[in-house]
Amino acid sequence: MRLDDRVRLTTDPREAAVALLDGHLAALPTETVYGLGARADLAAAVAQVYSVKGRPADHPLIVHIAGTNALEAWGASIPRYARTLADSTWPGPLTLVVNRTSAAQDFVTGGQNSVALRVSAHPIMSSVLAHLVKLTGNDSIGIAAPSANRFGRVSPTSASHVVSELAHFLSHDDVVLDGGECGVGLESTIIDCTGAHPRLLRPGAITADDVERLTGLECPAGSIVRASGTLARHYQPAATVRIVQAADLRDRRSLPPGAEAPAVGLLAMAGIATPAGVVRLAAPHSADEYARVLYAALREADALRLETIFAVAPEPAGIGAAVIDRLTRAAHNS
Ligand code: TXA
Ligand code: MG
Repeated sequence: MRLDDRVRLTTDPREAAVALLDGHLAALPTETVYGLGARADLAAAVAQVYSVKGRPADHPLIVHIAGTNALEAWGASIPRYARTLADSTWPGPLTLVVNRTSAAQDFVTGGQNSVALRVSAHPIMSSVLAHLVKLTGNDSIGIAAPSANRFGRVSPTSASHVVSELAHFLSHDDVVLDGGECGVGLESTIIDCTGAHPRLLRPGAITADDVERLTGLECPAGSIVRASGTLARHYQPAATVRIVQAADLRDRRSLPPGAEAPAVGLLAMAGIATPAGVVRLAAPHSADEYARVLYAALREADALRLETIFAVAPEPAGIGAAVIDRLTRAAHNS
């Protein structure tokens, strides 16, 4: 049996919505990465998400909603700056953590008193939510969806990534909705909105500077317990990732430890040359492109059975900071 024969692959948003309605799972495209969705109000369906991902049950999920007007159904005592962020960035690659209402049950929030909410800008994801709203008659219906990868691994940015990673774990009633390749390529920015001012929990396409500009408030980095995307070690391919400087790449002898491996890969901006004997995995022309191709390049390294991936980080401006964050976690080795 080919892997693809095990899963229901579709391009029809309604088919995914019907699967969700009935309590099954649907892997869904968003502009950031693919999510593995379940109805956020069905305990058994959400439990199945944790099981398929192999994720600890106390790690909270993001609830995807159809629009800003569902914010109040899930979030309580929402500060003004959070509403400003929702109004100015949704639909878009931003997740807001707010105090929860009773709609956000422990099985979604991992027992936390807050809930993470997001409105995706992907038209196919919007369409799934619009169908689900219609099918349930509930404007504020939510889809709980973590990234559609096994726990600790690289997030999927195409339906084929989802199929190759999760086919063994999905049931025949679950669906993988193919919406092409994700435009952003890195997970959403997460902002903690439970305090007097915003805090950056996970960097992404929308930067802390953007948040400060939009809200007029400082947005320092925050930290939370049990945020899987913020574990020091995360986003890891099978190959060992090592962050290097462009100067280390002058020739193969100047490469740092790891270069003696028979098969070595390189991720670096287009202007940086590839030393002889090294497999070039990506040569992006901008930080945006680096973000978009990063996860596919890490998967490619594993498909080629490379032992080591050298990565030269982009500049930290814009989404470059999020690329550096993910590379650092991918390279973490304790
Ligand atoms: O771009 C994305 O955000 C993708 C797409 C599918 O929406 N989703 C995603 O989900 O990356 P996941 O589960 O892989 O990462 C969600 C992060 C985790 O680090 C989780 O701990 C954090 O959000 N999170 C969820 N609820 C939270 C809460 N109440 N407080 C703090 N962090 C929370
Ligand atoms: Mg994830």
